[in-house]
Amino acid sequence: MEQYIIKGGKPLCGEVSIGGAKNAALAILAAAIMTDETVTIENLPYVMDIRVLLSAIEEIGAVVERIDKHTVKINGGHIGSVSVEYDYIKKIRASYYLLGALLGKYKKADVALPGGCNIGSRPIDQHLKGFKALGADVEIMNGMVVTKADRLVGTHIYLDVVSVGATINIMLAAALAEGNTIIENAAKEPHVVDVANMLNTMGANIKGAGTDVIRIKGVEKLHGATYSIIPDQIEAGTFMTAAAATRGDILIKNVIPKHLEAITAKLIEIGCDVEEFDDAVRVSATKRLGHTHIKTLPYPGFPTDMQPQMAIVLALSEGTSIVTESIFENRLKYVDELARMGATIKVEGNTAIIDGVEHYSGAQVNAPDLRAGAALVIAGLAADGFTTVDDIVYILRGYEDFDGKLRSLGGCIELVNSEEEALKFRLKVG
Ligand code: UD1
Repeated sequence: MEQYIIKGGKPLCGEVSIGGAKNAALAILAAAIMTDETVTIENLPYVMDIRVLLSAIEEIGAVVERIDKHTVKINGGHIGSVSVEYDYIKKIRASYYLLGALLGKYKKADVALPGGCNIGSRPIDQHLKGFKALGADVEIMNGMVVTKADRLVGTHIYLDVVSVGATINIMLAAALAEGNTIIENAAKEPHVVDVANMLNTMGANIKGAGTDVIRIKGVEKLHGATYSIIPDQIEAGTFMTAAAATRGDILIKNVIPKHLEAITAKLIEIGCDVEEFDDAVRVSATKRLGHTHIKTLPYPGFPTDMQPQMAIVLALSEGTSIVTESIFENRLKYVDELARMGATIKVEGNTAIIDGVEHYSGAQVNAPDLRAGAALVIAGLAADGFTTVDDIVYILRGYEDFDGKLRSLGGCIELVNSEEEALKFRLKVG
């Protein structure tokens, strides 16, 4: 029963360094097996989702050599199977990037259909539409997506919804298709750009990533490369909101401030001080913050992955804030947990109407998903008294050494495995 136990009420202050972007890394690992040559990936976050995907690609025959905690060498020259079984998909949805990668390289792939998810239904119809447009047969059989093509031929694809996953998956397959592919209404997230840069380093010809039209000139094969993953925008944003919620002062290092602009703008609007440096941001709050309205949107809009963390700040701020979740239909589940800590939030459809309270009081809460889990930890750090956060397996999937980094900022938090350890912590911190 792993859980975080937290004694809150102390401003978080100091410096923290941000790791590589998990969501970029998941796609980049899939891209790495698209060549028979060795690919070295640096700045890989050491989180569970990444370890699981590495196991999945080892299982199909890729050679994975861990150089250190944040660097791996991958050789996809001996892949013996293009079939990725359900166990892996169940653990991480992003194993679906193996569909695009394997289809591109071997012109066939069988990957278990990702199951449902806590934040919404998350269909992959746009991924499949893209593969079909490139000439692949796509069937769902016995819970697997089964795709194969005699040839993949470049084409013009218009995405009906802006989807990060579909944009990347189509880009992977199209990188090794014949001729030109154009993806319209493409996602513009920083990790889409990072995956395109990585593929280009491997010899692909992709232009326009970061805009809503991506042009891919298929190449015959890709080659080995060394690539360093961009910093994680959401991990950085999470620490920015930790500074705001605890009225602390944190220098968040190893970030790309441009990627954080939507978060920075909202924090400034409610009264935080945000200072930008070349590769760092400093966020501080000295007084009670104000209210605002937020609507999640595809990049460069406010990220859905930052919605719960920002709501935690707003629920402690003065006045009424409105948070609208427009990307996923089921991403306000943490509201009931936060209510147990004293927040006053009413949910109507996909909108949370938040009447800010002065304090949270510690409680036992459950992490409903990755980002909401991190948000509840921050709420615990801002709250009076003790909070325990259960189901932290979600948080461990995406944040490296979350509790360690928070402790280095003065946070009183411990990952415990038993009632005895929890009791010991309570006695120690008083
Ligand atoms: C990625 C991120 C996730 C983030 C999300 C939005 C990874 C591993 N995960 O998820 O953390 O919250 O982007 O920034 O990178 N949709 C369809 N059909 C499809 C695909 C998507 O209808 O085929 C819909 C989804 O239900 C959702 C919207 O499009 O409403 C956006 O989803 P998408 O951008 O694809 O999210 P993911 O790539 O799954």
